[in-house]
Amino acid sequence: MIDASNKIKVDTEAAVEEPLPQRSTGKKKLWIIVGAVVLVVVVVAAVVGGVVGSRHHNSTTTASTSSDPSSTSSSTSSSTPSPKPSSTPASTSPNAAYSSSSIAVTGWWTTTSSYSIRLFYQGKDGHLRLIGYDSTDGMWSTVTTLTGPDVKLGSPIATCNYNTTVYFGSAVNSGNNYTQIDVFYVDNLGQIQEWEVQEHPGAATNNLNGTISSLGLKPGPNSSLATYWPSLIFQDDLNQLQETYFTTSSKWLQNPLNISPQNHSALAEIVYSVSSARKGGGNFIYQDGDQKLQAEGRSSSTTSLKADAPAVAIPSESPIGAFSVPRNSQTDSPMNTYILWQNKTDGVQITWMDDDKGWQTTSAPDSFGNPDKGTDITCLMPSAFSFTPLQSKYDMARCYYLVDGRIREVKYDGSNWSVVGNVPLG
Ligand SMILES: *[C@@H]1O[C@H](CO)[C@@H](O)[C@H](O)[C@H]1NC(C)=O
Ligand SMILES: *[C@@H]1O[C@H](CO)[C@@H](O)[C@H](O)[C@H]1NC(C)=O
Ligand SMILES: *[C@@H]1O[C@H](CO)[C@@H](O)[C@H](O)[C@H]1NC(C)=O
Ligand SMILES: *[C@@H]1O[C@H](CO)[C@@H](O)[C@H](O)[C@H]1NC(C)=O
Ligand SMILES: *[C@@H]1O[C@H](CO)[C@@H](O)[C@H](O)[C@H]1NC(C)=O
Ligand SMILES: *[C@@H]1O[C@H](CO)[C@@H](O)[C@H](O)[C@H]1NC(C)=O
Ligand SMILES: *[C@@H]1O[C@H](CO)[C@@H](O)[C@H](O)[C@H]1NC(C)=O
Repeated sequence: MIDASNKIKVDTEAAVEEPLPQRSTGKKKLWIIVGAVVLVVVVVAAVVGGVVGSRHHNSTTTASTSSDPSSTSSSTSSSTPSPKPSSTPASTSPNAAYSSSSIAVTGWWTTTSSYSIRLFYQGKDGHLRLIGYDSTDGMWSTVTTLTGPDVKLGSPIATCNYNTTVYFGSAVNSGNNYTQIDVFYVDNLGQIQEWEVQEHPGAATNNLNGTISSLGLKPGPNSSLATYWPSLIFQDDLNQLQETYFTTSSKWLQNPLNISPQNHSALAEIVYSVSSARKGGGNFIYQDGDQKLQAEGRSSSTTSLKADAPAVAIPSESPIGAFSVPRNSQTDSPMNTYILWQNKTDGVQITWMDDDKGWQTTSAPDSFGNPDKGTDITCLMPSAFSFTPLQSKYDMARCYYLVDGRIREVKYDGSNWSVVGNVPLG
């Protein structure tokens, strides 16, 4: 655990995006140092052969650093992803998901109408798998196996992303212009680990061990993980919710959130309001001690949490997926919030609020099927940076869960829910 006690008073600011003109020279220097450290790490990683390519649409996407035959075999996957995903039986694919695999998804708007999605899950061999989607060609990439990380079988997985240029004082150039996708998981020692996938447009992807990995953070047994940059949440041994966030002094600091979800609660972290998304705000969704869904939001990293309960009890340890969409296109727009969970006959229920009239709950269409026992339901909450802000649109309103071992994708268009299909795992 980090000793936050003597740091917290002087360092409560989460490292979130600020307009460049407001940056102090001290902060610029800091980020130059961070950049230099990152470069050193990249070089070291390259020397030890830890740099793996996972470029979207590259047919040789699989990490090549392992002699594990199950991972090398996946590098031979076809470079033309099947447009009919459901025709491949997931159980026979080397990239099939572990039966109670966690699923983590992140994404970003690349323009006001196009977007990218990156989704992680755990294979039957325990390795993390990564698959990407870009709306410009409307196809999923081949699956990449991340053979570096040592992931506990059944580990929770959480992911977020950011455009790294917001952290550099200098102008955008080919060296600092990349999207970093962070994936968090638990290793075989039960410690939180972070793996960074840095996607450079038009160049090789770098994979690095993340800065949280050396801290030895240990969530309680069977804790979930949830993240929205720069915040990561988990339950501790006493089932209290802990938040670790990356600060302006480029350290991870841990603080209790003063929230006690029920034991082994599913967790989600989504955007609370458009203006809060770039100030360390957040909306923490969990299951309370009375088994009810609960949402606690804050407008910035330094304001206190405000509870907002949908007043619906859900089965103990039900999976919970959530996302939010700006209600209008104003900069301080409130969010429409959607929460998916699994009822006691295993069907999917949707609890949402999209006006001032409060929360409502309905059954998902029958086509949604029943999520497999023990899997996640996870929804896509896009990142929000000034260059690629949240859009008041439903294109990215998607959720994922396992049905018969396959990752099913469902979407909402602002009025109807429907099944997109199964994510093609090859
Ligand atoms: C940064 O990457 C974006 C996305 O690929 C690209 O459009 C832009 O031209 C790049 N800018 C620089 C300075 O490399
Ligand atoms: C990141 O954001 C900068 C603006 O801050 C933009 O110029 C650049 O194209 C973006 N890079 C990517 C890879 O999206
Ligand atoms: C990352 O670093 C931590 C400690 O700093 C180490 O325990 C872990 O094995 C490393 N992970 C990888 C994938 O190299
Ligand atoms: C954690 O989950 C595993 C598998 O579901 C279960 O066997 C174990 O008892 C759980 N541990 C605790 C402390 O609940
Ligand atoms: C929840 O976890 C705490 C701490 O591990 C334990 O003392 C308590 O008995 C658990 N409660 C239930 C209902 O399992
Ligand atoms: C559970 O959800 C399904 C639809 O997803 C619905 O058909 C079923 O009636 C629900 N069961 C209960 C007990 O509410
Ligand atoms: C939503 O579904 C209803 C009933 O199936 C249909 O009438 C309506 O056109 C759909 N709305 C949209 C926006 O597709």
